[in-house]
Amino acid sequence: MLENNDQEQNILKFPQSFLWGVSTSAYQIEGGITNDWSQWEMSAKRLAKLRKKNFDYRDFVAGQACDSYNRYEEDAEMVKDLHCGAYRLGLEWSRIEPRKGEFNLEAIEHYRQVLMNLREKNIKIVLTIWHWTNPLWLVAEGGWSNKKVISYYSRYAEFVVAQLGDLVDFWVTINEPSVFVSQSYLIGKFPPNKINFFSAGKAFFNLVAAHQKAYGIIHRHNSRAKVGFTNLVNDFDPARAWFFPEIFLAWLLKFFGNNLFLRLVRGQLDYIGIDYYFHFRIVWYPPFVRNLNKEVTDSGWEIYPRGIYNILQDLRRFKKPIYIMENGIADAADAKRGKFIIDHLRYVHRAIEEGEDIRGYFYWSLLDNFEWAEGYAMKFGLYSVDRQTFQRAPRPSAATYAEICRTNQIRIEK
Ligand code: BGC
Repeated sequence: MLENNDQEQNILKFPQSFLWGVSTSAYQIEGGITNDWSQWEMSAKRLAKLRKKNFDYRDFVAGQACDSYNRYEEDAEMVKDLHCGAYRLGLEWSRIEPRKGEFNLEAIEHYRQVLMNLREKNIKIVLTIWHWTNPLWLVAEGGWSNKKVISYYSRYAEFVVAQLGDLVDFWVTINEPSVFVSQSYLIGKFPPNKINFFSAGKAFFNLVAAHQKAYGIIHRHNSRAKVGFTNLVNDFDPARAWFFPEIFLAWLLKFFGNNLFLRLVRGQLDYIGIDYYFHFRIVWYPPFVRNLNKEVTDSGWEIYPRGIYNILQDLRRFKKPIYIMENGIADAADAKRGKFIIDHLRYVHRAIEEGEDIRGYFYWSLLDNFEWAEGYAMKFGLYSVDRQTFQRAPRPSAATYAEICRTNQIRIEK
C-alpha cells in the first residue's frame, strides 16, 4: 500500500522514487537528417499521393522538425521547468554512421554535449538507440529484413555505448518493434512500404536478435546498466466477454501484438518499457474492431484510460519493474490533455496500490513534433512549436503536468 493517501482531499501520492519524465525521438525533433524517411517523404510516389489528397507536401516532410539539434539546451530547460526527473530522447543512426562502418565523431560529440547538458541539470537520461529510422546504406542492403542488420546494429550499439555509456541511466535498444514491422512490412505505411509477410517475419526476428545482442554489449560495458526496449501495448478487449470467437481473437492479437517480442527477449530485460495509446474492442466480424469512441483524440484514437490498468495487470506475470515510456494525446486545443494525463495516472496509481512494480511515467511528448506518416498536424506536445520560428510555448497542460511531477501526486476532482 502507498502511504499518505489522503482520501478526503482526493490526493493520490506516488512512491517516493517514482520517475517522472517526457519522451521524444531523434528524427521527430532534431531536423536536418538524411535517412530512409527523408528519402521516402520526397519520393515521387509519396508526393503524388499527397497531391491527390490536396495536401501540402511541406506538412508531411520532417525537414527542420523542431530544430532540436540546435535547440537542445532550450528543450532541456523545458524538461526542467516541467519538474521532470528524466528525459527520454533518441539517437539518429544515420548521423552517427552516415557511411557503412564510418563513424562520425562530430555527431557523437554533439550527442555527448546534449547528454552532459541534461546531467548538469540533474535530469536522468533514457536513451533510445533506434527509433525506426535507418541510414541509406543500410536500406540499400535490404534494411531490417536482411540478417546482416544484426551485426550492423550491434556494431553501431557497441560504438554508442563506448562513447556515451557513462552518461546514460536507462537504455532503450529498440522502439516498438511490432509497430515498425507492421507499419513497414504488413500495412506499408512506413518505409520501405513493402507489404510482404516473409519480410515482416524476417525483420521481426532480426529485431529480436538485435535487442539480445545489444543487451549483452551494454552489459559488458557496464554490468549495472538498465536495458530494455519499448513495447507498444494495446488493450485488446473482447466486445462480449462471454463470446468465445471474440475472446480468442483478442487473445491472439494480444499474444502477437503485445507479448511475443517480450516473451522472446524476457531473459535480456532489466525493465519493461511500455507505450500505451490504444484500446481495441474486438468483434469477430470484419473489420474486427468496434470501439465505442465516446471520447477521441484529434487523431481519432479512443480515449480509454482503463486500458493502461488492464495492460499493467497483464504484465504483472513478467515480474520486472515497469516504466511507462510513452502515453500521450494529440490535442491541438489542449482541451483534454490535462484530464487525459490525470485519468491515466489514476489507473497507474491503482495498479501500484495493488502491488505492481511500476517505477515511472513519461508523457509523449515534450513538444509538438513530426508525427511520422501523419506529418505535423497532430499535436502531442506539452509545448507547442511555431513551425516558422521554432519558438516553443507551454500549453496550459504543461502547468498541470509540472505540478504532478513537482508534488509527486495527482489531485482527483470530485
Ligand atoms: C511512437 C512515437 C509516436 C507516438 C504517437 C509511438 O508509437 O513511438 O514515435 O510519435 O507513438 O503516435
